[in-house]
Amino acid sequence: MSNTCLEFKNLTLGYHGHAAIHHLSGEVQRGSLTAVVGANGSGKSTLMKGIAGILKPISGTCVTRYQRLAYLSQQSEIDRTFPARVIDLVSLGYWQKRGLLGRLTSRDRAGLSGCLGAVGLTGFEKRPLDSLSGGQMQRALFARTMLQDADLILLDEPFNAVDARTIADLMKVIKGWVSEGRTVLCVLHDHALVREHFLQTLLIARNPVAWGATAEVMTFENLRRARSFQEAWDEQAGWCDENTEQPGQPHVHRDHLPYQHKVVGHV
Ligand SMILES: Nc1ncnc2c1ncn2[C@@H]1O[C@H](COP(=O)(O)OP(=O)(O)OP(=O)(O)O)[C@@H](O)[C@H]1O
Ligand SMILES: [Mg+2]
Repeated sequence: MSNTCLEFKNLTLGYHGHAAIHHLSGEVQRGSLTAVVGANGSGKSTLMKGIAGILKPISGTCVTRYQRLAYLSQQSEIDRTFPARVIDLVSLGYWQKRGLLGRLTSRDRAGLSGCLGAVGLTGFEKRPLDSLSGGQMQRALFARTMLQDADLILLDEPFNAVDARTIADLMKVIKGWVSEGRTVLCVLHDHALVREHFLQTLLIARNPVAWGATAEVMTFENLRRARSFQEAWDEQAGWCDENTEQPGQPHVHRDHLPYQHKVVGHV
């Protein structure tokens, strides 16, 4: 079996025909931990949505090879006012196994308690979501991701507005996933954290700037190039002239892939 989990070929993603990220080519290996770094608006969340299948390529291809996907979207996109308790949110991790209305077995409940314990939320089962702090909410979302038992995990800014202790606890969870052979892509703004914990980094500024070993990617020169791309970007610009696909040429979609594409669930 190929060791490639994701393969991008001249991938362009965007909205209403306008590219948000383009000309991305490269591979993500199974069991790797990759940081996705770039300024606000550089296309990081767009890339996550493209990988998750929420956004179809404008051109190029995104080939995905995994059994189960867990996608934790950027926190600003999550509605915290939804009237639900921690246990309701976390047990959504069993959705694929049990269905939305399926009853949890005693084994499921033990698994759920174990995951809440692992993220430091024992005793929070019945707390309403809108009573949680930002860090506690992130812990709950990580517990749900644990239950999903996914082999590809996408995390979009999971450490936004959480303190150093929560980051340290959740980084341990992420490293545990990687040691189990799961593939993790994580969007981050904290460069020190990227340098400390992530072996691989993809630096984007609507175009890929650099991708590879973190020490080789996060150089002063690459970060300067990333900044200048972003500063030079014209929001009103039309279609990119480097687009190699001809209009009308079919895109390769996930339907042709060896594994079934499933989004296990996201809030
Ligand atoms: N639903 C949408 N419709 C139209 N344009 C969008 C949409 N979502 C994002 N964009 C645009 O695509 C570009 C990339 O946005 P994206 O959310 O991927 O950036 P990002 O790197 O995740 O930024 P941030 O660090 O602020 O989260 C931005 O110019 C943004 O305005
Ligand atoms: Mg984003």
